[in-house]
Amino acid sequence: MTTPIIIDCDPGHDDAIALLLAAASPELELVGVTTVAGNQTVEKTTLNALKILELAGADVPVAAGAADPLVRRRSVAAHVHGESGLDGPELPVPATSAIDMHAVGFMAERIRERHGELTLVPTGPLTNIALLLALEPDARPKRIVLMGGSVGEGNRTPAAEFNIWADPEAARRVFESGIEVTMIGLDVTHRAYVTPEETEALRAAGRVGRVTAELLDFYAQWHRRSYPDLAGSPLHDPVAVAHVIDPRLVELKPAYIEVDCGWEQGRGRTNVDWRRRLDSHDSNAAVGLDIDRGAFVRLLTERLSSLG
Ligand code: RIB
Ligand code: CA
Repeated sequence: MTTPIIIDCDPGHDDAIALLLAAASPELELVGVTTVAGNQTVEKTTLNALKILELAGADVPVAAGAADPLVRRRSVAAHVHGESGLDGPELPVPATSAIDMHAVGFMAERIRERHGELTLVPTGPLTNIALLLALEPDARPKRIVLMGGSVGEGNRTPAAEFNIWADPEAARRVFESGIEVTMIGLDVTHRAYVTPEETEALRAAGRVGRVTAELLDFYAQWHRRSYPDLAGSPLHDPVAVAHVIDPRLVELKPAYIEVDCGWEQGRGRTNVDWRRRLDSHDSNAAVGLDIDRGAFVRLLTERLSSLG
């Protein structure tokens, strides 16, 4: 029984690896890819998604989405992903283009035709998902497994993780939607790092593995400086996809998540109310706490090598 998913992403090195993992995994049906401004502009994230899907040999429609957050000014992450959003390997100009439909309309159509039996896997700011909920309220997905947020430290600021920080209003709408939400936050993804030795194993794992290693070579530059205490580069977005493939990999706990939509230091913070301090709320998400890192890296290496 395959799980139909749409990945809503902002490639981005780790988004790119998440797309490759999804394309290589028979447990998933990658119904489509939608793109959003985040790590780079939506024009660049869309081009990057097309390049990666062609690398994977995946015939999957790509629909471009929001160019800006709902309220905040766009703030890209060129310091992490470069000016192209996917600096490092030379990837050919894609022969395909994005479809002539907005990401929100594309998601709504796919959800309706599947009678709601579709999981959304957002790995960038949640702008498109919030727009879907606002513009197409009857097109509700079965589940949302998102990479974003954190119980502990942030990465864009001490308080907040980038995807939530970039569009906190969108995130609040998602967490308050009543849809089953799984939050794969930094607490898990900082433990999902790939070491230099594991990168070399990927480099030897075929054509796609080599490109993945070249992506990691560039991605590691910032992470080595920013996370000298980690034994490798944290692979955020692939963890969300890996969780859908094999739920055993990530330990989850239910909690109520409140998104800080302030304009000061707390902007984008995902306040996790473990102890029901806000006693008017039941849990609205399953929060990732830990991961079997070895099993995750083995899955990633095995699947990427299967792409040739
Ligand atoms: O904070 C990490 C997240 O922000 C990842 O999804 C990365 O690609 C960026 O979008
Ligand atoms: Ca991302």
